[in-house]
Amino acid sequence: MKVTVVGAGAVGASCAEYIAIKNFASEVVVLDIKEGYAEGKAMDLMQTASLNGFDTKITGTTGDYSKTAGSDIAVITSGIPRKPGMTREELIGINAGIVKSVSSSLIEHSPNAIIIVVSNPMDTMTYLVHKTTNLPKNRIIGMGGALDSARFKYRLAEALGAPISDVDGMVIGGHSDKGMVPLTRLATRNSVPVSEFISEERIEQVAADTKVGGATLTKLLGTSAWYAPGAAVSGLVQAIACDQKKIFPCSTLLEGEYGLNDLCIGAPVVLGKNGIEKIVEIELNDAEKAKLAESAEGVKKTNGLLEL
Ligand code: LAC
Repeated sequence: MKVTVVGAGAVGASCAEYIAIKNFASEVVVLDIKEGYAEGKAMDLMQTASLNGFDTKITGTTGDYSKTAGSDIAVITSGIPRKPGMTREELIGINAGIVKSVSSSLIEHSPNAIIIVVSNPMDTMTYLVHKTTNLPKNRIIGMGGALDSARFKYRLAEALGAPISDVDGMVIGGHSDKGMVPLTRLATRNSVPVSEFISEERIEQVAADTKVGGATLTKLLGTSAWYAPGAAVSGLVQAIACDQKKIFPCSTLLEGEYGLNDLCIGAPVVLGKNGIEKIVEIELNDAEKAKLAESAEGVKKTNGLLEL
């Protein structure tokens, strides 16, 4: 199993690290355009191998896509990150050009790869990869919901005073401050609805804190987060590499599911060796449907800024 991670910045390096630590991939190639940077990150990570107990071989390259040839999975993290006060949507101008050229180069050398898009604005960049590569829809996956759901669980555990392993919850919709739809009605503590433990107001606060999860970190760090994004990507990569058939909310091309068409947006999907093996349609109530429809409008508006 060969995995390529494009972008050796904080998110890309964190992806490579978590993939290696989980020890399921034989090879991870990290590619960056900054001279020597990916090579340096790869070498530093390889020097953790004996300490952290993994056998994954990590190598780095400065822009040489031939080194990525034959990848089974490719992760695109390249582009500029958010600065405090910026929305993900404001990154579109620069990141669209980068994602377009990166996805073409990847597919040229790895025509069978499954692509995971992390660059922001993520739902629009995932849609752009569809338009650029024309790959079948199961092979293009946007990473947002897995991260947003992890942030949701963190906030739920905090509100419940419970260990994270006791809580479950999912965020669908667009990966944006306004567009996320945390499914509070379906969130549970050890299979009991969270509304049995905390007030409606507290649940609404959890949802609000979840939606600005990335913005909160950007304010604290001065740039966007990397540990949780990297861990979320590694979860998707592992589900595909190990054919786990796990359900994650991911940005996927919808063709009628949830009453939506011609956009990529977060919905629950089954991930296995073929990438997105199924889009899971769960029954939403009217309020949730309305939030998802509003989120889709936001994503479509950002998609409208693409020069396709
Ligand atoms: C975040 C970025 C990865 O939410 O969008 O931290």
